[in-house]
Amino acid sequence: MVLRKCGIIFSVVAALIVLGLLTYMAFDLFYAENKYSGAEEEKDELINQTAEEESLTDESGFSSVETGENEEASSEDNGEELPEESSMVVGEDAEKDGLQVVADGDYLLALVTKDTTLRSDYEPVDLVQVPDYMYPSRPLQLRQEAMENLEELWSAAEQEGVILHIISAYRSFSYQEGLFQSYADKYGVNAANRFSARPGQSEHQLGTVVDFGGTTVDLKAEFADTDQGRWLADHAHYYGFTLSYPRGGEATTGYIFEPWHYRYIGREAAMQWKNSGKILQEFLQEKPQNFE
Ligand code: DAL
Ligand code: ZN
Repeated sequence: MVLRKCGIIFSVVAALIVLGLLTYMAFDLFYAENKYSGAEEEKDELINQTAEEESLTDESGFSSVETGENEEASSEDNGEELPEESSMVVGEDAEKDGLQVVADGDYLLALVTKDTTLRSDYEPVDLVQVPDYMYPSRPLQLRQEAMENLEELWSAAEQEGVILHIISAYRSFSYQEGLFQSYADKYGVNAANRFSARPGQSEHQLGTVVDFGGTTVDLKAEFADTDQGRWLADHAHYYGFTLSYPRGGEATTGYIFEPWHYRYIGREAAMQWKNSGKILQEFLQEKPQNFE
């Protein structure tokens, strides 16, 4: 009898322990899953924020690039860590990396390419706010002279029924650093290199560049075929803005076609550039340049 009672008590205790264990395991699993998806959401949020800013998304440049000239920007690169030797180029290490250091970022014709770099502490001194009526994607800034010309450009487009949104403008060195890193994390370094500049090497740091949008195909090659893209291609130079990364220019610039990325270089120079038929980089290479 005592033995039977003991047996029952033992069974009940064992059952309780098993139940407790199962509950714990179920809770742990649920918690871990939530924690994981939370982290993913955070990461996606960062990437979305930055993807809004500039360039390629999966549906955009990538697909057009992949169906076009080059297969190397494939998903193979996804998740690739930034290798030590190609880690971020910081202005201070530029000489070591064989880059020419731009002496004066305020110079409207300064050459900013994959072979040159701005110092990490270079900031334009005369940044002003992009006004709300231009639909900035977040509080954005541009250099004063570029802004004045952008205002004229924007109104001229509006008068022809073309509404332009401003997706990106000035970006600091550290902002570009985060942006490039997020693309490298998402697409791999090799792919990121084709549509995003490393910190110090983005024309956006000059404060004279605007990424235009306002369409359903913003930041995609198809932007070129929208009213906005066509209007800009036909008129931007009259207001001093030039297209930095044209179709078919990757061999020269290192970047895919970006029909939304326009750089202000002054009206006279922009007219000269347009008439030259040259890629902006080649045009600027013929202008006086100051390196440290
Ligand atoms: N998308 C251009 C190359 C930049 O990141 O400045
Ligand atoms: Zn841009």
